[in-house]
Amino acid sequence: MSKIVVEGGWPLEGVLKVQGAKNAALPLMAASILLGEGESLCLENIPYLKDVETMVEILSIIGLSVSLDGNKALISNSGVVNEEVPYELMRRMRGSVLILGPLLSKKGKVVLPMPGGCPIGSRPIDLHLKGFALMGAEISISHGYVEARTNGRLKGAKVYLDFPSVGATENIIMAAALAKGTTVIENAAREPEVNNLIDLLSKMGLDIGRDGDSTIVITGADGLRGASIPVIPDRIAAGTYLIAGVMSRGRVRVEKVNPSHMEALLAKLVESGVDTSYGEDWVEVCYSGRPKAVKLTTLPYPGFPTDLQAQMMALLSIAEGTSVINETIFENRFMHVSELRRMGAMIEIEGGSAIIKGVSSLTGAQVVATDLRAGAALVLAGLSAAGITVVSNAQHVDRGYESFVENLSALGARVRREEG
Ligand code: UD1
Repeated sequence: MSKIVVEGGWPLEGVLKVQGAKNAALPLMAASILLGEGESLCLENIPYLKDVETMVEILSIIGLSVSLDGNKALISNSGVVNEEVPYELMRRMRGSVLILGPLLSKKGKVVLPMPGGCPIGSRPIDLHLKGFALMGAEISISHGYVEARTNGRLKGAKVYLDFPSVGATENIIMAAALAKGTTVIENAAREPEVNNLIDLLSKMGLDIGRDGDSTIVITGADGLRGASIPVIPDRIAAGTYLIAGVMSRGRVRVEKVNPSHMEALLAKLVESGVDTSYGEDWVEVCYSGRPKAVKLTTLPYPGFPTDLQAQMMALLSIAEGTSVINETIFENRFMHVSELRRMGAMIEIEGGSAIIKGVSSLTGAQVVATDLRAGAALVLAGLSAAGITVVSNAQHVDRGYESFVENLSALGARVRREEG
């Protein structure tokens, strides 16, 4: 078991170049399944993460040849595409579900272990499957496996999503890529990571585009060619480092970011009185006194991201006044609350809301990371707490943050990793 040990009270100071987005890298990598034989994708700005490593393993088992050179991934289709992936690999991350759509589109058949739930919620895939069914796939679930098959090619269809699920939108886009005819996805996710996928597929020769904010139109192709694209900046990692800057009472500037993807967070930081400035590809925050309480609700993009909820809760736990966070995306995403309470935070849960009575300071404690973002939030809390905080189960953090401990150290944090 891995631990992150933080000594609180040292202000972060400096500049950090932010990694590429995990949630964009995974679907872009999955899109390689759609490549024609002999074609290759070159993905730049790939973050070096556990989840990316898992996707490399999955794609290799499927038969693609994948090489990672620093932050560049080269993925080629040399002819073989298998449609079976062992459960052990699929269960490591939720993002593995993104291979369903492209495999079904490419092979007309897919048999894969159903992804499990995870600590933050049950995370069903009914919307993904509903989309495939509308496109002509027969779906069955038995013995923990989902099987989807179609006679010949999938057919373009009109798919209305009851909820603008990010994963369902991406999977249905990729299923539609080699389908016959036109697919229209209504109430599609608006996340910038989805746009990164649309841009890649368009470079691969697919006729795809948005019609307004929430409709995506795809006309299936007979085959797709190789292409090259950079992964967009990670707005969640960027936000995490900015919140770390404020919580440590320091000054942090993140570079290589897209501030227009971070408007909900920036608005809340400004509302809580944080000195915030930004330019074309950077954002800077500077501690200017105790932050003020705010109310926020997690929502699909462009609303406040659920993936920054835990980190923002850590910040609000030391704000002046009482804050309220409504979590509307995942039903069980308050696992960090009991750990923050162990550090002295005063937080009550009422249904899907957390009521946070700000305290003037937290105290270091032994705490457990229950998931990726909860782990990051606890490290942030540790930066501001008096004394030492030990975050165990810290391997969760490696799923989404490249060199997290090293980056915080470079900014002046007293933080280290302990294994075992
Ligand atoms: C993606 C992100 C994750 C982020 C989430 C919400 C990746 C790899 N992961 O996850 O970091 O927290 O978006 O921004 O990009 N739902 C259903 N049925 C479905 C699909 C989803 O009910 O078929 C529900 C989920 O249970 C959840 C909500 O919709 O309550 C949002 O899920 P979704 O947008 O699909 O998230 P993911 O794509 O899994």
